[in-house]
Amino acid sequence: MNKPLTQIYSNYTQEDFKVWKVLFDRQLKNLEHYVSHDFLEALEKVKFTPNRIPYFKEVNSILLEQTGWSLHTVPCISPQCEFFRLLSQEKFTATCWIRKKEQLDYLEEPDMFHDVFAHTPLLSNPTYCEFFKSIGDLALKHIHDPIVIQKFGRLYWFTIEFGMIYKNNEINAFGAGVISSAGETKHALSVRSKKIDFNIEKIFNTNFRADILQENYFVIDSFDQLLKSVPEIEQKIELLAEINT
Ligand SMILES: [Fe+2]
Repeated sequence: MNKPLTQIYSNYTQEDFKVWKVLFDRQLKNLEHYVSHDFLEALEKVKFTPNRIPYFKEVNSILLEQTGWSLHTVPCISPQCEFFRLLSQEKFTATCWIRKKEQLDYLEEPDMFHDVFAHTPLLSNPTYCEFFKSIGDLALKHIHDPIVIQKFGRLYWFTIEFGMIYKNNEINAFGAGVISSAGETKHALSVRSKKIDFNIEKIFNTNFRADILQENYFVIDSFDQLLKSVPEIEQKIELLAEINT
């Protein structure tokens, strides 16, 4: 597939619009009672609808007004250094191509349904964004230390990508890897996967595989809890970096 560097809206085909709509409707239905209300609120804020593939210029003007963040278009997954550098500048790397109808359920790398539908709405949430930027800032500071970067990879994975959140006695999803995948949604909410209360030390010590449904999901109380954990993250990382030198 030809993967564009920038979004040229007129290049989207009827099939692209149809794929966006099918995925959008299907995931909202799957997630109906199981997605964080922060995500649903954010989805309204960014004005995404099933009938229209988001236009990045419009999305960016909403995000810039809400939190100062914006989308930075990329053709594929960015190298870690580039990804963290952009996070630190309040820019999220997003693809602008969409999967084909034969690929509704499985894709080897993220397309815009994952990057835009699942990741982007919460970029309008100031607390979430502040936490996200902290990951970028701290990771960038230690970008040449592979052991520290591995910890940030895990932190990113178990929060932004596969994070869950308590709502009263239930567990809802806010991580983009859950929100964008029908299979992951079902698995994450089932008894087959382990749910662990948010704990930085445990996250730093928990490995993951990107090519399977997750075994472990970490559950936060709120985005405030995430943000308040930043000093602890910093402290643990500084200690680790010191040991490594
Ligand atoms: Fe992602």
